[in-house]
Amino acid sequence: MAVPQVRPVGMFERPRGTNDWGPDDMARRRQVESAFVGVARSFGFREVSTPMFESLELFEAKSGPGIVGELYAFEDRGGRKIALRPEFTASILRFYVNELRSLPKPIKVYTTGSAFRYEEPQKGRYREFYQLNAEIIGGAAVPSDAESLALAIGTMRAIGLKQVRARIGHIGMLRAYLPFGPADQAAVLHALDKRNVLRLEAELARLGKPELLEPLNDLVRLTGDASILGEAKRILGGAGADAFDYLHKLAEQLYHYGIAPSDFAFDMGVVRGLDYYTGMVFEIDSPNLGAEKQVGGGGAYTLAELFGGEPVPQTGFALGLDRLVMAAEAEGALAPPEALDAYVIPIGDAMRGKAIEVLASLRAAGLRADVDLLGRGPTKNLEYANAVGAKHAIIVGGREAKGGSVAVRDMTTGEQREVSLRTLVEAIRGA
Ligand code: HAM
Repeated sequence: MAVPQVRPVGMFERPRGTNDWGPDDMARRRQVESAFVGVARSFGFREVSTPMFESLELFEAKSGPGIVGELYAFEDRGGRKIALRPEFTASILRFYVNELRSLPKPIKVYTTGSAFRYEEPQKGRYREFYQLNAEIIGGAAVPSDAESLALAIGTMRAIGLKQVRARIGHIGMLRAYLPFGPADQAAVLHALDKRNVLRLEAELARLGKPELLEPLNDLVRLTGDASILGEAKRILGGAGADAFDYLHKLAEQLYHYGIAPSDFAFDMGVVRGLDYYTGMVFEIDSPNLGAEKQVGGGGAYTLAELFGGEPVPQTGFALGLDRLVMAAEAEGALAPPEALDAYVIPIGDAMRGKAIEVLASLRAAGLRADVDLLGRGPTKNLEYANAVGAKHAIIVGGREAKGGSVAVRDMTTGEQREVSLRTLVEAIRGA
């Protein structure tokens, strides 16, 4: 029969700002993701999942102009306005208000997956990226913020990162200081977040409060241990006085979690790019990442009320997996990808059946085992086993098989010995 001719339609590039991840990349990404999932589960967080796309309005409501301007939005065939999720918090709070309200509180949930923002791509900044996200809804404020920070910092430790540090601020304090309505407050906070002095100056002039420029500039420069809180209090006068007490209490609880003072600093300049934050806010940086050094951020926010729920404390954070993996690589914190325990080589086609039985017994015992699929000769097969980093090659030859054994080659030392099939699993596992 003639083979139908296939005419290539062309070579395709992946869309700008997206990534393909190969097997080694995925091993590293899963390693980091499982560190987060492991710590989150040990903290009593449970997994949820929300849609990859939502109605556009959900994100327009309170995400802030930064993110709204970056949405992947489109109309579906039914004429509905849809957006790919740029983050998880709005979706989880929508889910909470609509369906999870009856669960016992506090509700502690995590989720992981892709998020989409139409940003200018560069190293560590993509249009599709991957977040590890956790939220606590309905717990008391200080303990929930402390728990959330402990999970974020605990994840860094579980990954093996040593150089990352959390910077903790309080946006409620800034909001109390800015005598403007929500939209104007947001405009000022965005200029502050971007450290755009010219824009900040222009906004304050527009709002008739140019005298706030200097104190705000002084305030966002304050970073250090709890002693800076006194200085911040002095700059802000009476505004946001509760926030200082709050941060002191938070630091005390973090201490009891075993979080060292060197793991975090107070930083009055943490403003955050999303509009829904109302209380404590934090960001985590890795010094190894250059311009896109922020590996995570979060804080206390108000969204449930906006979506029709009753007022409850809400707090959470997201870590950027792409950046965490880069930071972990830079610090040499990741374990090498898991190698094959055994690669099974039949000597000739006659031995294939026996080789598959050996392979099946290894797999059934939970070992990672693979078999020659090309019918290659022993030398080529050993080269392949070496190239893929298999720990052992198991050579199934006629003479040995008849005697109920196989030849096992240790691929690191090159040593080869005959092993009975009865003890093969222990021999591979023990070596
Ligand atoms: P976010 O600061 O916008 O917060 O994002 C969290 C993390 O996601 C960032 O620190 C960064 O590591 C990563 N990230 C953001 N954009 C990109 C990008 N374009 N490319 C690569 N990584 C990126 C939130 O999304 C909030 N929902 C966090 C939160 C949860 N707050 C309360 N609960």
